[in-house]
Amino acid sequence: MKTITEKINDDGYAIINNCINKKLLGKINKSINEKLKEIIKKSGQKPISNNLTKNFLKLKKQINQYEIQKMLSKHLFEKNFIDEIFKQDKLQSNLIHLIGPDLSYMSDFEMAINEKSLKNDDYYFVKKYHQEFWSGMGLEALQLWIPLNLKKGMGTIEIIKSSHKWGHVPNRNREPIELPTNYKEIKLSISNGSVAVLSALTLHRTIKNNHNEIRVALPITVKNFYYPNMGNSDLNHFKKVNFSVFSNLRKVLGNPNLTPYRIFHPTKTKKI
Ligand SMILES: [Fe+2]
Repeated sequence: MKTITEKINDDGYAIINNCINKKLLGKINKSINEKLKEIIKKSGQKPISNNLTKNFLKLKKQINQYEIQKMLSKHLFEKNFIDEIFKQDKLQSNLIHLIGPDLSYMSDFEMAINEKSLKNDDYYFVKKYHQEFWSGMGLEALQLWIPLNLKKGMGTIEIIKSSHKWGHVPNRNREPIELPTNYKEIKLSISNGSVAVLSALTLHRTIKNNHNEIRVALPITVKNFYYPNMGNSDLNHFKKVNFSVFSNLRKVLGNPNLTPYRIFHPTKTKKI
């Protein structure tokens, strides 16, 4: 069986199964619903108690989906849920294995909500084949697709196997100008609690959700903060979420001259 590194090297993607606790996902979905209810109330309307989909659709009649996604993403970030996700043992150990312990994630991410009434030509929400590299993600980073609310029949994302080896695919109007005649498309088989990992060059697209409930996922970029930026990631915000022994020592010592002022006070010294 291939290791996760071999899988990404060969196919351009991998899935880390059962790496996020279901209780945490439950808490996150509950919190999303509470936030939707709060915004609905503020607009003078009555929210629908525990129905995430109905609350979302109700709010979508007043505020555009882009704004809702932005507000909910900010909410999850401020409530520290994204940090909690990255602290999940299995997810974190796989990411450390792939890119090292000095982990940071892009904090100005945007949650992706997909629902039945979207049209196939609603390109912003139903994306055609694209590489994250096109929108500034560097080759040094990994793109995660983390389902938060995903049920059977909702669909996921579709990728072109090994397309990362094609390099930068020329594009116009947010889609490839041309593709090779032969390639293999794979619909990601993934469920709640698992995470898909893609390279910045792996071509992928949205599969429209025809389920009655909304599909909620977090497309989020993760990178080792020491790796040189090979895209536009310096224009985004990244939050450091894990440190190596080396970084921890730098923090403990407190400055780049490595003076041990925080832990050692040589007021008295003894001769040796
Ligand atoms: Fe994407």
